Amino acid sequence: MAARSSASGTNGGAVPRRRRGALLLTVRLASGAGILVVGALIVVAAIAEKRARTRYDVPIHAITVPGDQASIDRGARLARARFCSDCHGEGLTGRIMADSPELGRLAAPNLTSRTAPRALTDLEWERAVRHGVRANGSALRLMPAHEFTELTDDDLGAIIAYARQLPGSSAQVPTTVAGPLLKALDVAGLFKLYPAAGIDHNRPHRARLVAERTPAYGKYMASTCTGCHGERLSGGKPPGAPPDWPAAANLTPSGIGHYSLADFTRLLRTGVRPDGSHVNDGMPWTFTRSLDDTEIAAIHAYLRTVPRRDYGQR
Ligand code: HEC
Ligand code: HEC
Repeated sequence: MAARSSASGTNGGAVPRRRRGALLLTVRLASGAGILVVGALIVVAAIAEKRARTRYDVPIHAITVPGDQASIDRGARLARARFCSDCHGEGLTGRIMADSPELGRLAAPNLTSRTAPRALTDLEWERAVRHGVRANGSALRLMPAHEFTELTDDDLGAIIAYARQLPGSSAQVPTTVAGPLLKALDVAGLFKLYPAAGIDHNRPHRARLVAERTPAYGKYMASTCTGCHGERLSGGKPPGAPPDWPAAANLTPSGIGHYSLADFTRLLRTGVRPDGSHVNDGMPWTFTRSLDDTEIAAIHAYLRTVPRRDYGQR
């Protein structure tokens, strides 16, 4: 199941949209099926405690944060196109995505430097976004760093530049506290509570990529589509999802091979399919509409090169 959010987006109803929807899913899974029995919780608690205490050794990687307006504007666009503001809220002032006894309190923190308890350093930004860890090496929960681990220094720098000049808000966002259910699903391998666990922290980072209409650039941009559409982009629901879960579509050639570039652009900007029908609100087109023409053309080109798969092979 995706750890992301727009509820499905990666995590759930009260959670940022459908991607964040995985969380909502989690709640229903658990309350409906009662899968996780009390006896198992003791074992689970011990393993979960160990996972929570795991420290990741991440090499230090310096980032240059630009100050020019063009970079800030690009960062603003990327923060939407990469769904940061889907979880962290408009203006990146943070928000509570879900709060229940089983799930715990899932909150995406305030990322603005003027009002947060203190400004994040460049190092903290780099570790959080590309590695899913805090400065001390402990793992962040739910922050989908596995989808951002390949972000270039340039793109990350632009997002930081954008966040640093935002007006911010004085609203205090409480910290995340993972509930017993979420920990149990994580231990059972059904939910990625700690994305840092699945990241190669020694992978070299690229300084920049030239934005061009190539499958390679499209693959880079499409990393943030996998949270909902699945690692293999064939859509369907995460394993165990309830019947009313909005299933993501098959983006491989067997699913949308008939989409021209114009069709694809219209879908990502307005949510309207080639036949005139409108996608449901599980598809975050209000964020994908921030993708520019080159990025959309690149993703379109990339999706033509991925292996055809039947719907739902995730
Ligand atoms: C938060 C989850 C989520 C994310 C992230 C997401 N999608 Fe979707 N997408 C969906 C869902 C759910 C549907 C199905 C909507 C429906 O059936 O009405 C969908 C439908 C689509 C469709 C329509 C296919 C069709 O004809 O039915 C396209 C194209 C698409 N997505 C492309 C993308 C691309 C490209 C990205 C990344 C840039 C992306 N999506 C990111 C959830 C998501
Ligand atoms: C699925 C929702 C989600 C998305 C999408 C998301 N984040 Fe996060 N992010 C979180 C959560 C939740 C935390 C806090 C985790 C914790 O406290 O354990 C977090 C933490 C962070 C932190 C660490 C903040 C701190 O005070 O230590 C940074 C920085 C961050 N996110 C930046 C980003 C950026 C930049 C993007 C987009 C490229 C992004 N996030 C996308 C959910 C999300």
